[in-house]
Amino acid sequence: MDPRFSVIDERLSSVKKIIAVSGGKGGVGKSSVSTMFALVLNDMGKKVGLLDLDLSGPTDHAILGFEDTFPKEEKGIIPPEVNGIKFMSIVYFAGRKPLPLRGDDYSNVIIELLAITRWGNLDHLIIDMPPGIGDTTLDVIRVIKNLEFIMIGNQSRLTLETLKKVIQISRESGKRVIGIIENMKFSQDGAGENRLAILSVPFLGSIDFDEEYESSLGNQDVLLKTQFAKDLKEIISNNPEVF
Ligand SMILES: Nc1ncnc2c1ncn2[C@@H]1O[C@H](COP(=O)(O)OP(=O)(O)OP(=O)(O)O)[C@@H](O)[C@H]1O
Ligand SMILES: [Mg+2]
Repeated sequence: MDPRFSVIDERLSSVKKIIAVSGGKGGVGKSSVSTMFALVLNDMGKKVGLLDLDLSGPTDHAILGFEDTFPKEEKGIIPPEVNGIKFMSIVYFAGRKPLPLRGDDYSNVIIELLAITRWGNLDHLIIDMPPGIGDTTLDVIRVIKNLEFIMIGNQSRLTLETLKKVIQISRESGKRVIGIIENMKFSQDGAGENRLAILSVPFLGSIDFDEEYESSLGNQDVLLKTQFAKDLKEIISNNPEVF
């Protein structure tokens, strides 16, 4: 067995809830919802960590507007704090350069990131998952014991196929799927919610398509005043058993 697995257990031992934000399909809003979750939960007084595990397309730093930095090394790596949110991303190490990895190398970077990061005490660690249901999904399922998933979908029938698969993989590997969030809702007729209902996963709520979101990127104070943030706060307060 890889000795790093027991180090990962130790690193995550003081984290109350570990939530991977996934969905299979690209572009549904996994990074936006993950990062906004971190901002909103932090604003509500929770201790939050955010881990961007999209190694080939990390974006959470851009949503947060986080300046270039390098994390402090001290018996591992201490994640830099952004207004109280402990934030870890591959951008600290790879900068703006592409990180072309495949197979075992990809898994190794993920396991290494999990093994070196000292999160300390957290209420929530939010993990932003890449699109697809490949290596990263299998790796987090393999190495994070008390991992749970929140799935992101939208009104399109096209998201359903991959959602079904990622939900099945999570369940078959014994990981709880907390529920599903509809993002970028653009009609109020309930079509998206009805469509997502066939997945037999608790429906946590919807986030409207927010025209202000794009111009708010990078500015945390403004992001917290968007409709996006309001919708997320409502989802959090309607689901107290999850948050
Ligand atoms: N509720 C929303 N309102 C308006 N725009 C949104 C909303 N959610 C996401 N977006 C926009 O949709 C695009 C995709 O969002 P995002 O990058 O968060 O998706 P993703 O699922 O993480 O994508 P990827 O699969 O590439 O990782 C981005 O341009 C983002 O700004
Ligand atoms: Mg993303």
